[in-house]
Amino acid sequence: MRSIGDVPLAEIIAPDEQAILRAAQTLAAGKLVAIPTETVYGLAADATNGDAVAGIFEAKGRPHFNPLICHVSDIAMAERYAVIDPLSRQLMDAFWPGPLTLVLPLRPGTHIHPLVAAGLDTVALRMPRGIAGKIIAALGHPLAAPSANTSGKISGTSAQAVADDLGEKIALILDAGPSEVGLESTILKVDDDAVLLLRPGGLAAEDIEALIGHSLQRMDQRAAIQAPGMMASHYAPSAGVRLNVHEVRDGEALLAFGPERAADAHKASARLNLSEAGNLREAATNLFDYMKRLDRLGGAVIAVEPIPFTGLGEAINDRLVRAAAPRVPPIEELEQIK
Ligand code: TXA
Ligand code: MG
Repeated sequence: MRSIGDVPLAEIIAPDEQAILRAAQTLAAGKLVAIPTETVYGLAADATNGDAVAGIFEAKGRPHFNPLICHVSDIAMAERYAVIDPLSRQLMDAFWPGPLTLVLPLRPGTHIHPLVAAGLDTVALRMPRGIAGKIIAALGHPLAAPSANTSGKISGTSAQAVADDLGEKIALILDAGPSEVGLESTILKVDDDAVLLLRPGGLAAEDIEALIGHSLQRMDQRAAIQAPGMMASHYAPSAGVRLNVHEVRDGEALLAFGPERAADAHKASARLNLSEAGNLREAATNLFDYMKRLDRLGGAVIAVEPIPFTGLGEAINDRLVRAAAPRVPPIEELEQIK
């Protein structure tokens, strides 16, 4: 095994039949594997394993949780995880496998971990070309995989580029030569008859328009995910959110972290602990689920104990701050402010 000092470096292996099995086994064990796709190399984890998915954010050093694309081996696998409308199905039939991602409603009760979709009720699916599909089929689960690069650096399009950037943080890199497209996939979302272009990418808009017979509706990807309307329905809980809480108030639902409790924790109407041990990776895997569970109890306020800003803590705090942000009041209320 190659290493720098005590840190083992990822092994780079040729993409043969044995590599497919090794990659599937490594992924099944909850580890990260860099896999070639036709667009860019992906930093992959089993999408049903929250701890492994948290590992992606940790390895990339992402300061926030954005939803990840899930890679499937075929349309049948896509059907198991998402509800596919006829137009999306037509797009899959025409362009899969290939550099096209479709955002679809998550099928209720699927095992895709909530961290993959960052708590949204949709999931972005794509069927990549090449060896990735065989690895996914061997694993039997979809793979969450953003581009294999540290956050803020350019996407890895060769095994060596991935090794140089992330070699100390991942187990295995499959080398299938330089990526054919070199640009991330095009992301679409079908909204009734309109087809929204959420991210331009490796499949040209013109090719899509030729198939569907009308223009794509362009929209800013950030706006698509982060527009206040979407935030209110997807990210912000109905309850208010109070952060960095050292003292719990009567009736608040408590989102705890670590072994020590805030003062007056007994006043909480309910309590869930993101990680008793104070493990940020465990906290990340529980975050969206626990926020939703406390919110469903219907209390007025979710009180959140302090969470350190180190490692995944930065992304956890980013998401909590968004959830706590005061929302724009309804227009009727605004009119009463004179
Ligand atoms: O080419 C690619 O697509 C590469 C290779 C590795 O397959 N993957 C990739 O994945 O770029 P990722 O996870 O970095 O893409 C994330 C983007 C997010 O920034 C977001 O725009 C979009 O995918 N996305 C994911 N889930 C979404 C959702 N539920 N709704 C809207 N957009 C979503
Ligand atoms: Mg990227």
